[in-house]
Amino acid sequence: MNDLSDLEAQILNSVKSTQDLATLEGLRVSVLGKKGSVTELLKTLGGLDPEARRTRGASINALKDRVTSALDQQRQQLEVAVLDARLEAERLDVSLPPRPNAEGKLHPLTQTMDELVAIFGAMNFTVATGPDIEDDWHNFTALNIPPEHPARDMHDTFYLKSQQSNDADSAPRKVLRTHTSPVQIRHMMAHKPPIRIIAPGRTFRSDHDATHSPNFHQVEGLVIGENINMGHLKGCLIEFCKAFFEIDEVPLRFRPSFFPFTEPSAEVDIGCDRSGADLVIGKGNDWLEILGCGMVHPKVMKNCGLDPERWQGFAFGMGIERITMLKYGLPDLRPFFDADLRWLRHYGFSFLETPSLERGLAP
Ligand code: DAH
Repeated sequence: MNDLSDLEAQILNSVKSTQDLATLEGLRVSVLGKKGSVTELLKTLGGLDPEARRTRGASINALKDRVTSALDQQRQQLEVAVLDARLEAERLDVSLPPRPNAEGKLHPLTQTMDELVAIFGAMNFTVATGPDIEDDWHNFTALNIPPEHPARDMHDTFYLKSQQSNDADSAPRKVLRTHTSPVQIRHMMAHKPPIRIIAPGRTFRSDHDATHSPNFHQVEGLVIGENINMGHLKGCLIEFCKAFFEIDEVPLRFRPSFFPFTEPSAEVDIGCDRSGADLVIGKGNDWLEILGCGMVHPKVMKNCGLDPERWQGFAFGMGIERITMLKYGLPDLRPFFDADLRWLRHYGFSFLETPSLERGLAP
């Protein structure tokens, strides 16, 4: 029996001193594998007489069981140790304060959009969105701009290639939305009034010069309810301008205008001073156009399945680049889209200060 207890002591020793899983597996194979030391021992039983085979067989099998459980135990311990080491190494301190010198900045357009959400959010508006790739119906027809209407020409539309070439003539091509107004349509079709939304987002027109970019941004506003009138529209826009430009008295001028989707329609100018080197908002003798607006046209309501006898509403649309340039005195539109880090570092905003009416919009 001595040979067995020597072998067992030797194996158990090796198991105990093994410190990694791969070596332990190698050890297991060398003991219990096809040619392992214990397996070889079992093979010798065949040459013994029945009595000796029974006693020695029982001893070898008992040894095998003890060795197997020692191996299992060691493996489990090593696995726990591996997991502990990994948990220790990958630990994430969620209480760590943000790096004080964080470098990123928010683009001024992002800042303005956050400010819009803060201001209109305080007036109980919610944010709606729509796709950048629109169909002709939502972008034009439903907004009372039927095919062949001259207003389509004003939009310098990017048309997409038709997908089914064989019925290219019958299926209107998709467009990159030329304004955010189609979100009005989508929202009215999907929600029952009362409605109070803003829809900020990307817009596209085939127009490129110092004051136009083919990709720009607009924010649409839409309010639908019972007994909504032009006074509500004026009050809402005056409140917005006061909050956005952070001045108590804003000279605003509502000028009659035309949009196919509103009746009556108006454009809003803001009073400013352009006599010096800088443009100053809120005083002076000049006017700058900032948005278009009006009472939602009955035809647009009908196109969306709303009864214009029961529901009225107002809408407005504003260029986000424009109001950003006015508020922050940025003279040129082009750097907005240059992705020039120097410009972003200079004109960008801290991402840790979320605009709010209580704390101030822009720190
Ligand atoms: N969609 C118009 C444009 O891009 C802007 C606009 C004007 C939107 C009047 C409106 C509105 O909702 O009522 O020029």
